[in-house]
Amino acid sequence: MISPTDDALVARWQRETAPLLPLLHAFHDRDGYLSEEALKAVSTGLKIPLAELFATVTFYHHFARQAPGQSAPRVCTGPICALRGADALCASLADATPMPCAGRCDDPIPVIKGHQVLVGTDAEALAPAPAPLPAPNPGGYEECVFADIRTPGRASLSGYRQTGGYQALQQVLAGEPAELVALIADSQLAGRGGAGFPTGQKWQAVAEAPGEPKTVVCNADEGEPGCFKDRALLEWDPHAVIEGMLLAAYATGATRAFIYLRYEYPEINAILANAIAEARAANLIGEHILGSDFSCALDIRRGAGAYICGEEGSLLNSLEGKHPYPRNRPPYPVTHGFENLPTAVNNVETLASVPPIVRRGAAWYRSLGLDGHPGTKVISLSGDVQRPGNYEVPFGLPLNTLLHEWAGGPESGHQIQAVTMAGISGGFLAGDDLNTTLDEPAVRARGSMLGAGGIMAFDDRRNMVDIARQAMAFFAEESCGKCFPCRIGTQRLTERLDGDGPTDLATWRSEVEDIGDVMKSTSACGLGMAAPFITDSLLKYFPDQVAQRVCA
Ligand SMILES: Cc1cc2nc3c(=O)[nH]c(=O)nc-3n(C[C@H](O)[C@H](O)[C@H](O)COP(=O)(O)O)c2cc1C
Ligand code: SF4
Repeated sequence: MISPTDDALVARWQRETAPLLPLLHAFHDRDGYLSEEALKAVSTGLKIPLAELFATVTFYHHFARQAPGQSAPRVCTGPICALRGADALCASLADATPMPCAGRCDDPIPVIKGHQVLVGTDAEALAPAPAPLPAPNPGGYEECVFADIRTPGRASLSGYRQTGGYQALQQVLAGEPAELVALIADSQLAGRGGAGFPTGQKWQAVAEAPGEPKTVVCNADEGEPGCFKDRALLEWDPHAVIEGMLLAAYATGATRAFIYLRYEYPEINAILANAIAEARAANLIGEHILGSDFSCALDIRRGAGAYICGEEGSLLNSLEGKHPYPRNRPPYPVTHGFENLPTAVNNVETLASVPPIVRRGAAWYRSLGLDGHPGTKVISLSGDVQRPGNYEVPFGLPLNTLLHEWAGGPESGHQIQAVTMAGISGGFLAGDDLNTTLDEPAVRARGSMLGAGGIMAFDDRRNMVDIARQAMAFFAEESCGKCFPCRIGTQRLTERLDGDGPTDLATWRSEVEDIGDVMKSTSACGLGMAAPFITDSLLKYFPDQVAQRVCA
């Protein structure tokens, strides 16, 4: 097949909305890397100054600038893969480079080559990555987003329809958008991407905000180490996410929608593209959906590897082809989002929760949680437990039930000494605090947060200072550098955890707490505010392990 010319690639994307990322990917896929000529063609075609384009392209992990480029292996060296020997695997593969958590903490170490994800711990025995179905709920609790995910064929349009798929959309099109907003508000569904903002309130703000066209963005960036729930939802239930996006669009008055998909999920790009094509052919996406007055375009935009692009302002800048710095807030995306117009940014799990809520009602959804906590949460559990994976838990479930009864606990003869919360953004919980229940108020009362629901377990063989050092190094690497408390603070904390700093515990503690306090109070976004949770909780639970490192 003849490769498309530079001009043909530019012409293909020039007049589209949000063209930069797909155009860069088109060149990257054609050549295997982004050559000088390619960047010049993109710069001219999209009228982006070359220097600005160069800065943006090099910000992302996965845009290669020279051969072997895309075909060179990238090895996940996230916290769980590090325990499995990721550094050695990376060193044993030709041309390999490390990459931050690739969202497969439930598998052996993932290695991305081109558009393929392989897994393994041995360079000679890498195999295509499996797609584990989420385990059935061992507690027998009723599920929301996973209720039908195990139905054979669910990822296809016909399979999805067999279990009530797109009935919710059909149902709401017969009513007013405001009724849908009221229903979602009544369900008490709150954002599952980390911040937990009430979804009904967000949608109402977008619906009421002046300015058109409005946009819905599905945040499928899932860069938080230890989180891999959105991957499972997109892989096994893509139509549920698409239907959730269409419902969000109807509720808010949006006429365009994007899925911002992380680079590290190439197989999901193909699954989503197929599901979108099926939905388009069935008049579920596009003009006059199902014969109604409601029209909405829906497209995928692939990221290129940057944790900060999960932060909604950064994501919107990335979509717009700008340097992906977080935006100052206010104004918020609900009034000034994509192209400065009203935008609902929602997480994959949030959106996938909407169709069942519409079908079964707000009271049903609220009743799924325990002790008055409304609804459910998918927890991505990994590390030192016998059955890692994604579990949909009722809010209010004891953490120990999940760790020990559902996931089989640690290897026999060992104890879980700590878990991370919110991926790594909630720091550690240990000791008596492992007796928490899984709901935001209870976890916050213990000084952490549930966030996006990634939990990594570490048994008594692990050195917690090493784990903390690695988490802080991730934040230092992924800090976008826009504000100095985070840019410098994450580096200084990494050095302290390396043992480079004061050699008595009291001085070490006071310095580290001081740096953390400044970061928490002056950082411009959640990355810099959350990073000190790691050092604060390390000092709270493991002062002896810190003393061993500091005073060594
Ligand atoms: C550093 C950082 C990374 C984030 N990464 C993600 C992410 O990968 N996926 C996500 O849905 N939200 C992420 N968020 C939260 C988003 O900014 C935003 O709150 C969310 O997408 C809104 O959707 P929700 O209300 O449905 O949760 C991140 C926030 C921060 C500060
Ligand atoms: S807190 Fe960190 S990641 Fe966020 S804007 Fe500042 S430098 Fe960037």
